Amino acid sequence: MYTVGREEVEAVREVLEGGKVFRYGIGAQCSRFEERYAEFLGTRFCLQTASGTNALTAALIGAQIGPGDEVIVPACTYMATPIAVLAAGAIPVIVDINESIGIDPQAFEAAVGPRTRAVIPVHMWGLPCDMDELMKIAGRHNILVIEDACQGVGGYYVGSGGKAMLGSIGTVGAFSFNYYKNMTCGEGGAVVTNDERIAERAMCVIDPCRFYWDGRENTFAGFVSNGARASEIEGAILNVQLDRIPGMIERMQAEQRTILARTVGPQSGTPLRRAPFNGAEGGCATHTMYQFDDAAAADAFAESVGGTVLIKTGRHVYTEWDPVLDHRGGPHPALNPYEMEANRECRMDYDREMCRRSLDILSRTVSVQSHPEHTQADTDALVDRILAAAKQPAVS
Ligand SMILES: Cc1ncc(COP(=O)(O)O)c(C=O)c1O
Repeated sequence: MYTVGREEVEAVREVLEGGKVFRYGIGAQCSRFEERYAEFLGTRFCLQTASGTNALTAALIGAQIGPGDEVIVPACTYMATPIAVLAAGAIPVIVDINESIGIDPQAFEAAVGPRTRAVIPVHMWGLPCDMDELMKIAGRHNILVIEDACQGVGGYYVGSGGKAMLGSIGTVGAFSFNYYKNMTCGEGGAVVTNDERIAERAMCVIDPCRFYWDGRENTFAGFVSNGARASEIEGAILNVQLDRIPGMIERMQAEQRTILARTVGPQSGTPLRRAPFNGAEGGCATHTMYQFDDAAAADAFAESVGGTVLIKTGRHVYTEWDPVLDHRGGPHPALNPYEMEANRECRMDYDREMCRRSLDILSRTVSVQSHPEHTQADTDALVDRILAAAKQPAVS
């Protein structure tokens, strides 16, 4: 969600005019952002990256996932999630989501096999996954939880342990700050963790040459990787965006409360249902999800409201992940995890019908978008459109 004001322009101007566009030894914006974002989330470490895909890859390699390992991913996510697993040399195992649009805890547990090392819950559209259940199952099977919070920036989950920021609950979390995300610097990302060893390894993925800038006393003997360093311009924008995010989330949550109170439940006089929500409250409230009995009702509602049927986003369903489904997992046969001897025992037979339940749920769910700059009149107009759409014969 691109929301930028004079403050971002001023912050960038200062960096450019000061000539401090490199993070080590010259600038202070990335380090400042990392410290502040870690504090905002309640984690020990935060490492800025060039993208969310880089952040996920660094999280996985940081957690020592590699060839010979399976990582469970949901059928509904951007392809970057399974791509990051492959970039680490491991194999993604794709499982169903449930009606909450998050990974189904039962499907996750049923998919655990001898090679399963990690699971990636993805907080799609800022909707928290069922973290209480997922953490319990993961604990039972000694599996790492790596949160893909790329779409969950600024959102939180309220579970049995109280309120926790999305991305801070598992062993490692990854964020994206690309153009479409709640906080944006055009392109960017971050990895967060409380585990020092994981942070050291992730840092090595993000910048394997860092020791040149940082001093060689570092006791950690690193390894070679591609690198995904962030720039001070991005850091400067993110420092302003971080001041902006709590207010944005609060405004969208307030708008969502109004929308729900007036469109769902007996007092609304509509048959509309909200998709089940994990946790007592929270999330990012960027999208309100309405669920229907069949795809025809969802289509009619979406068209009338100006919403999106989730199966039609064109990029968030496993059936769209051609390179993954076709086992094009790397740029060279020897670098393709699907061809590696170490992965011979991993499960990698995919087909487009394997998660039919997810396809059914996504074809029956419609997202309606909120915006922090919506006025009361905008919200009223949106509610009116939803109420009108609910009266259509195809919907009710
Ligand atoms: C769920 C999810 N994971 C990962 C990513 C990858 O982030 P980036 O585009 O910054 O690489 C995205 C970005 O759209 C995403 O939505």
